[in-house]
Amino acid sequence: MKNLLVLTGGGDCPGLNAVIRGIVKRSIAEKEEWKVWGSIEAYHGLLRDPMEVVLLSNSRVAGIHVKGGTILKTSTKGDPFNYPVQKEDGTWEMEDRSELLIKRLKELEIDAVVSIGGDGSQKISKRLHDLGVPVVGVPKTIDNDLSATDFTFGFQTAVEVATDAVDKLVTTAESHHRVIIQEVMGRDAGWIALHAAIAGGVEVCLIPEIPYDINKVVDRINQRYERGRGFANIIIAEGAKPLGGEMLSKESDEVGYQMKRLGGVSYVLSQQMKDADCAADLRVVVLGHLQRGGTPNAFDRILSLTFGVKAFEMAKDRKFGRMVVYKNNDFKEVSLEEGTNAYNTIDVENNYLIKAARGLGISFGD
Ligand code: F6P
Repeated sequence: MKNLLVLTGGGDCPGLNAVIRGIVKRSIAEKEEWKVWGSIEAYHGLLRDPMEVVLLSNSRVAGIHVKGGTILKTSTKGDPFNYPVQKEDGTWEMEDRSELLIKRLKELEIDAVVSIGGDGSQKISKRLHDLGVPVVGVPKTIDNDLSATDFTFGFQTAVEVATDAVDKLVTTAESHHRVIIQEVMGRDAGWIALHAAIAGGVEVCLIPEIPYDINKVVDRINQRYERGRGFANIIIAEGAKPLGGEMLSKESDEVGYQMKRLGGVSYVLSQQMKDADCAADLRVVVLGHLQRGGTPNAFDRILSLTFGVKAFEMAKDRKFGRMVVYKNNDFKEVSLEEGTNAYNTIDVENNYLIKAARGLGISFGD
């Protein structure tokens, strides 16, 4: 009998449950008995006293591929190498708990770990693998910002949510002759914004990869009002920045949260537009976590279920220190190092979608 432990780490995204189901279903097809266990809230489940590790039976994963979120819960504050520990006086200290983690995996007789997570989680997978932990990685994030894979699951669903929002905001913008600024997620990458901008047909799309000139943005909008069209929709990625400016971000005060918090750039843009004499009435919509919740679309389900099946097979074949990816319309694998060393932002010069968007009359504010 063999034991596999699966966990979901980092921000949630549609498709996590489908990966879990793919792993469990594929394990049942094996002649040799495999037990699949889940660690609750990423590595917290292994590091807590008592441990929170659950058995994932066939019945436990029935129908979960259509559900958003993760039945295992997740955490952005549980890096085992930088683990938040509360002291008796109530203060928090960061400690390296990787040794304890490895000890507990041995106690549980775990033969393979499948870590489903984004860039940060896979960097942790790499460090654990370097210490001898048998890990396979599965990349997830709505941001689509890992170069090794053409798509991460969750991205297409997020684009659909963002596009649906554009469709709705167009009708209200038009009715009131307003400009509606819609902010979408994506961190340093403008993928969600670019895809939803093309699919929804906005006038202006602002992405981190192309710093915007506020006067060009306002000129573009004012021209529409001069021509009597009287409304416009703008998409702005949370990481977008003006020419010569910085990305809007702040340190988080949540213990153990190591990323910068983004969000709110649409309000800054609205003020900048007013200051630059924008003729229109402006409204702002921040789409936020709506992009991460709910049912994965068919593409993301297929991607996640297949990632789950392949991750199990990689674990069974002892291909540790590797990550499943989707490249050139095929399911492949790369080393965790290769999978995490290049960030996938939009190559503005060579990506045809940028050209296509310009060809469709979308302005990037440049
Ligand atoms: O990386 C995914 C993502 O949704 C980003 O697009 C966003 O900046 C961030 O996570 C938000 O994270 P949190 O869950 O901490 O609010």
